Amino acid sequence: MFEKLSSPKPDAILALLATYNADTRPDKMNLGVGVYMNEKGETIILDSVKKAEARLLEAETTKTYVGLSGDKGYNQAMQEIVFGDSVANERVNGVQATGGSGALRVLSKLTARMRPDAKVYVSDPTWPNHYALLQTEHTEIEHYPYFDAATCSVDFAAMAAKLRTLTANDVVVLHGCCHNPTGANLSNEQWDEVAEIAVEVGFLPFIDIAYQGFGDGLEADAYGVRKLASSVDEMLVAVSCSKNFGIYRDRVGCAFAIGKDQASAELANANMQNISRGIYSMPPDHGASVVRIIWDNPELRQLWQDELVAMCTRMTSLRNKLADEFKRQSGGDKFEFIRIHRGMFSLMGLSVEQVIELRDAHGIYMIEDSRVNIAGLQEENIPRVVKSILAVS
Ligand SMILES: Cc1ncc(COP(=O)(O)O)c(C=O)c1O
Repeated sequence: MFEKLSSPKPDAILALLATYNADTRPDKMNLGVGVYMNEKGETIILDSVKKAEARLLEAETTKTYVGLSGDKGYNQAMQEIVFGDSVANERVNGVQATGGSGALRVLSKLTARMRPDAKVYVSDPTWPNHYALLQTEHTEIEHYPYFDAATCSVDFAAMAAKLRTLTANDVVVLHGCCHNPTGANLSNEQWDEVAEIAVEVGFLPFIDIAYQGFGDGLEADAYGVRKLASSVDEMLVAVSCSKNFGIYRDRVGCAFAIGKDQASAELANANMQNISRGIYSMPPDHGASVVRIIWDNPELRQLWQDELVAMCTRMTSLRNKLADEFKRQSGGDKFEFIRIHRGMFSLMGLSVEQVIELRDAHGIYMIEDSRVNIAGLQEENIPRVVKSILAVS
């Protein structure tokens, strides 16, 4: 039977990692990975997480199931982190999910139940995994324009024009701060306009947010999601703790539905629980308990926030150093967008051929669309990276 299966297309990121691992050059560099790394190139466990884990080990008394909606204290913590007080408590209802990806899956199945003939719009470009996670037996996935490759910034006029042509039956997947793979983010004024269009057209906003705190701070980064939450009657939000708590392998996320009132939010929640029962049943506990312990304890909360600021500051500083070095070596402003982009990623604006040449001739690895992980840089390597990119472009 198995011979009837065809080989799935390899995941671009994992395939790149395999080629990188097989490369024997001692000075090779991988800028294609999707996790935060410190100045030594390590993805360490945060102190706040280690301390919360110690408390959890001490205090936990059972390993029985956590229930379909997961840890309610964790869901409440996530609600406070993401929404603040932008929306009435009773209109928000969340279920714990297996990472942001699990939340996307649960919410895409929820949209298919509500709007079986809806078109789901994603940005061009978006994360390759969005297609798999958002696809259901009903879903038609379409695109709205997002990135202007000439300027490496958001083509907001084209995006807004497209959103205005949609219908109240459509679903629009939006990237929360720092989430777009291009590194280009919406400004607060642009989020205001998206919220206005969403109200006017009536489409269902569906936000994927996995990097809150990696841009301009925990509160500032929530602007877009909070603006929409306070503007529209209904919306969906998939949240991940993988990156900002650094607990990638613990699979911690949350799927939120905002309803027009308490009854509709509860109905959405009952459906989300029913959907997760049919996918993975109950969510895992460990990482969610760790997040709850951190958020509920003032000392640990402060420690986590300080650690988050340190990660964010390192990325902003690397962005500035990289942009400075491009300016110094090239004498031009072409790469100034690196300074303006936010979060871990930036599209460098290189062709596939240039990316391959960079890998083969210089031992510098990035995804074929030229996306780099800024946190994968070490300060001392910046001159070499810049020299190599300028040599191929
Ligand atoms: C499209 C998308 N959204 C969100 C996430 C959040 O990550 P995780 O599922 O690890 O929480 C990912 C990670 O792969 C992703 O591909």
